[in-house]
Amino acid sequence: MTNAGALVTGGSGTAKLTMAPGGPAPVIILDYGKNVGGYPYFTVAAQSGNPVLRASYSEGSQYIGANGDGGGAFNAGDKSRANNYTIRGAGTINHSLIQGGERFQRIALTSPGSVTLSAIGIKFSAYRATANEYQGYFMSSSDELNKIWYAGAYTNQLSMLPPGTGGINQLPLILDGAKRDRNVWIGDMYVEGPTNYVSLGSNGNEYLKQSIRLLGSYQLTSGFVTGCLAPQSPVHTGPLIPGTTACYSTSYSLYFTPDLADYYRATGDLDFVRSQFPVVQRQLGWNASRVNGQGLLVTDTSDGLDWDWYDGNKTGAVTAYNALYYLNLTEAAYLARETGQPDLATQYTNKAAALRIAINANLFNAGTGVYDLSDKVRGTVTQDANADAVLFGVAPAGAVPGILAKLKSTLWGTHGPRPFSGSGYSTLISPFISGIELNARLATGDTAGAMQLVSDVWGQMVRPGPSYTGTMWENIKPDGSVEKGSTSLAHGWSSAPTSALTRYVLGARPVDAGYATWIVQPQPGSLSWTAGQVPTPHGPLAVKWGRATGGGFDMDVTAPNGTSGTIAVPASGQTTAIAVNGTSVWDRGTFTAGAGVTSARSDGSYVYLSVSAAGNYRVTARAGSGEPTPTQRYEAETAPAVCQGTIDSNHSGFSGAGFCNADNAVGAYSQFTVNAPAAGTATIGVRFANGGAPARSANLIVNGATVAALSFEGTGAWTTWVTKTVTVPVNAGNNTIRFSPTTAEGLPNVDFLEVGA
Ligand code: GCU
Ligand code: CA
Repeated sequence: MTNAGALVTGGSGTAKLTMAPGGPAPVIILDYGKNVGGYPYFTVAAQSGNPVLRASYSEGSQYIGANGDGGGAFNAGDKSRANNYTIRGAGTINHSLIQGGERFQRIALTSPGSVTLSAIGIKFSAYRATANEYQGYFMSSSDELNKIWYAGAYTNQLSMLPPGTGGINQLPLILDGAKRDRNVWIGDMYVEGPTNYVSLGSNGNEYLKQSIRLLGSYQLTSGFVTGCLAPQSPVHTGPLIPGTTACYSTSYSLYFTPDLADYYRATGDLDFVRSQFPVVQRQLGWNASRVNGQGLLVTDTSDGLDWDWYDGNKTGAVTAYNALYYLNLTEAAYLARETGQPDLATQYTNKAAALRIAINANLFNAGTGVYDLSDKVRGTVTQDANADAVLFGVAPAGAVPGILAKLKSTLWGTHGPRPFSGSGYSTLISPFISGIELNARLATGDTAGAMQLVSDVWGQMVRPGPSYTGTMWENIKPDGSVEKGSTSLAHGWSSAPTSALTRYVLGARPVDAGYATWIVQPQPGSLSWTAGQVPTPHGPLAVKWGRATGGGFDMDVTAPNGTSGTIAVPASGQTTAIAVNGTSVWDRGTFTAGAGVTSARSDGSYVYLSVSAAGNYRVTARAGSGEPTPTQRYEAETAPAVCQGTIDSNHSGFSGAGFCNADNAVGAYSQFTVNAPAAGTATIGVRFANGGAPARSANLIVNGATVAALSFEGTGAWTTWVTKTVTVPVNAGNNTIRFSPTTAEGLPNVDFLEVGA
């Protein structure tokens, strides 16, 4: 093996693999850095002895052996993850089948001879989005969230099949995964749709529209909508296909209408809704025929599978399927209204209300405080049943906090939630169902829970590791590892954070179809700022928000032409006075029209400003005149603070991640950088512990000038923290405040500095 590096230096030099008779096989492993997919090619410059070149593929590094990871395509790609080529001469070998997802490629000679390669690579066949194709974006003060947003968007792109790819498909379609199954799956599209809508906008919408159309065209005479198809399938025309059920299950069939409704909300494409509405009606007719005496939808061993195919059919009245049925009825009512059928809308609304009562009467378990898995499986705490019930509005508002708390306390682990308590079902963590839980938490205001869930489930996918592919994994073992080589490490159904971050954290969502009206309602959690935009048929809806120094909240919203909406400002004591474009519109409950804001109201959590026209709205929310000045805390362990010593955490009672244990020496300081709105004086509190008996003395140095000599008394123990308050002169802007010890005892331990009072 000589000069393997030539293969990655872009067109100069050659690599030579040589195998002697009986000798070891030369091997090269290429790392593409992240998941890619397409047609492999190999350019042979010279050969001797007609050897066999073997290429194999893996997404994760742990599976890159001679056979690859074993997760071949079911359709529209190579079923094998390893290919042999007998090399008979110079020239380029173009593999005729797509290897749809691989970060790693292994090439080896498996019989004697030699091959000189001048190039090797993969002709990308998925949807290629350069920066221009992103009509939406998301950036925030959390690097992890930013990576997660883009990894989700890219996961979808690897699963997109541009029309005409390899003569496979006539339509733009979206598959479930990059390497496997490479089928069009209606359940997966429930997550993939929103991911595309917020990231690619009109560049990606058609992939969802045509996939919905394709699956809907294969509706059976029973009304059942086919939940999966190979992308080669032509759109079916002509009469309904005879039969009762097809791929894959009742639950999957129940994603057709929600997928259509989501597509409509994002695009406002009413013509398409009209064309598909008969499919919706027939599908609901079929569901109605499968309702039992309690008014609940039932499944049996012919149609009871779900996202956890390895758990087998769920039969009887399954809560998750009934919650999905409820969603179908409410979405069908919405689409009926939008298509000018108010009476039909009322019928669906009434059916939904009756179903909701039946679910709550028969499937909620007062003993566990959560919904049961089904009328047959009682007592198991079930993630999908409860996440669905909360997100789709089946659960009464008063029950939601208890349900979410129970899911967390019973199911959550370090690497994400297990989907079921007990031992009857697989413990594989599902990013698909965790995405539903994520949306359920955000939609009901549990921002902290949602952010922890994102970090637990998806944070591990964007960190370096053997399964890092820059794309989102199909499922995860409880220990955070991937179950097997065939597990897809690029699965669109795992991309939920992309849309959730845009819709709830950035906060930009449609209210009426196509964003004719919209709401921007940030859920900041612990973030300090977010910037992004969401594509709409009217142009981008752009948002930036950030916490103001010293308390308060700033937002910039750019509303596209022909739209109106609501800007929701997080309410706190520091945001009681709100100005828009410099004009005061809200002061502690009193609204004054101006700057395009036509009305305002507050529910205690947000102040909602209605704006009626396109344009830029700069919103500044500050403490009103009667509000106390906020206190700003600066931790000793957080840069730009400096600790001339170590950051320790061995004495409890500190705030943040630790405290400054400065070296016991003259001048070994703890320093803070403090922002002041104006020049003058500031009252600062320094929190410290001094477990040694004698007081320790230090100079207080502000911006290089000693302003006081301080004495830090003994506090009795290193775990007893007290705050010492002093007044110091400050400049407008940043000031350094340093505690510099004047004896060899050094400083006490320093926890934080607080400014304000
Ligand atoms: C102990 C104590 C430290 C402290 C040090 C000191 O070692 O554990 O937290 O900083 O004393 O006297 O400064
Ligand atoms: Ca010390």
